[in-house]
Amino acid sequence: FQPKVLAGRRVLLTAGPTFEPIDPVRGITNLSSGKMGYAVARAAREAGAEVTLVSGPTALEIPYGVRRIDVQTAQQMHDAVMVNVAGQDLFVAVAAVADWRVANASGQKLKKNADDDTLHLEFAQNPDILAGVAALPQRPYCVGFAAESENLEQYGAAKRVKKNIPLLVGNIGHQTFGRDDNSLTLFDEQGHTSLPRADKQTLARQLVREIARRMAS
Ligand code: C5P
Repeated sequence: FQPKVLAGRRVLLTAGPTFEPIDPVRGITNLSSGKMGYAVARAAREAGAEVTLVSGPTALEIPYGVRRIDVQTAQQMHDAVMVNVAGQDLFVAVAAVADWRVANASGQKLKKNADDDTLHLEFAQNPDILAGVAALPQRPYCVGFAAESENLEQYGAAKRVKKNIPLLVGNIGHQTFGRDDNSLTLFDEQGHTSLPRADKQTLARQLVREIARRMAS
């Protein structure tokens, strides 16, 4: 049983990886499965919210009652978020957004070259979606995620301040990507608290309650 802690609230989320094309049939992505973000979307809907989920490519089904907008690249994810952010009460950025896109992507499939066995890719920085939303004059309550590989407590607290958001949720990348379970550390103004390892849906429900409590205070 999930208490309706987000009844009447509008929630926008990002989830999954992004896919940055190299040519029409190849690209760069990462190991995010989307499971954590989808679990949070489902939990928010169960808690009574109207939920919009901007999703990179995943193999997951649309959670019941959730409006999903499918995107591939970080730029598309950014644009979909910005078009939908007005009137939202809560923004949860769970996606593993590529920091870089291929600046010299080819319009045609790249061919091997008998004279040159190297391929030179150039990269351009993608927009930071969470920072963009957090900088809006009328911003929703903003929650970020951080996947670190070490020093979570130190990096998490610093990242929350740097991103200028009230709540940052940390996890250890190689202990979450693709898995059905996870453990979370919540960083806010007061310090940090941990949600011990559990399946992602259980954690997502706990997280939604933690978020709703902070939004109300
Ligand atoms: O700085 P870092 O990439 O670790 O921050 C992670 C947080 O920022 C996540 O909430 C992620 O969804 C968000 N992010 C974003 N756009 C980017 C990079 C990260 O929204 N280009």
